[in-house]
Amino acid sequence: MPYPTERLRRLRGTRAMRRLVAETSLEPRQFIYPMFAVHGRGVKQPIRSMPGQHRWSVDLLGDQARRIARLGIGGILVFGIPAAKDEIGSEAYADDGIAQQAVRAIKDATSDLLVVTDVCLCEYTSHGHCGVVDPRGRVLNDPTLELLARTTVSHAAAGADIVAPSDMMDGRVGAIRAALDDNGFADTAIMAYSAKYASAFYGPFREAAESAPQFGDRRGYQMDPPNRRQALREVELDIEEGADIVMVKPALAYLDIIRLVRDEFEVPLAAYNVSGEYAMVRAAAARKWIDGRAVTMEILNAIKRAGADIIITYHAAEAARWLQA
Ligand code: PBG
Repeated sequence: MPYPTERLRRLRGTRAMRRLVAETSLEPRQFIYPMFAVHGRGVKQPIRSMPGQHRWSVDLLGDQARRIARLGIGGILVFGIPAAKDEIGSEAYADDGIAQQAVRAIKDATSDLLVVTDVCLCEYTSHGHCGVVDPRGRVLNDPTLELLARTTVSHAAAGADIVAPSDMMDGRVGAIRAALDDNGFADTAIMAYSAKYASAFYGPFREAAESAPQFGDRRGYQMDPPNRRQALREVELDIEEGADIVMVKPALAYLDIIRLVRDEFEVPLAAYNVSGEYAMVRAAAARKWIDGRAVTMEILNAIKRAGADIIITYHAAEAARWLQA
């Protein structure tokens, strides 16, 4: 039925009409808020490259977690910044490591949030790579798996609901599932960073977590940005190995990958709206070059529309507040 009878603008005329027919909506329950934990007491240290985000000491995390729970946000993704780094990232799997302490503090404070832990060695190793490195500087896959598995068991013992391996070693989901099951944590879920690209959008995070590689880069283990079919292979293998939730990361420059994975697989899909995506919005908004709130909501809607069920985002708290208003 062509114009003048058919008028698509009818459904756009008022806010009430737009709200009625919106095909996508955002819900705080589907947000996961990344937080950085540091040693010390009373520490709330702003992260220069991520305005509005902080490094928190464990004693302050409980309060923060309660505030985030009150906003209806689904979970917190915990990153730890250790006291000391070494070649094999020992604090990553220490029972009283920073991430383990943070998990206990959040769990003690509230049961209304899921606690997700990032499982990786890069914040904990002196060389800043996500695995064990040999004398020639190669990142060794198989010896890394055991350390990742130990890390997840220590996170689960601290009370983590979900462990999220972000290292991109082959076979890590299977190794982690087996270790969790062997240690009595059959109920701990795995959210795998499955299609994780070697991205320059992680720049601000590496400053926040002090995790930049000291030599080389991560292109030998993280995915190459031109690839699409390979993302399907990564996701497929992770599901076969036992991933409960899969992830595409970053989000904004990879919306096509989010849609592809959504169409191909049945498991819940998370997308990580990463540090560089957040930093760009905040930087332009601070200069009043864009309307930060409107752009943020447009981006989050786009990630949802592309097919993500869950959005991991530094915007989680502000977006949840805006959704309440
Ligand atoms: C650890 C890890 C990284 C991010 C999440 N987990 C950094 C990296 O792979 O270099 C990036 C998160 C972000 O940029 O917000 N491997």
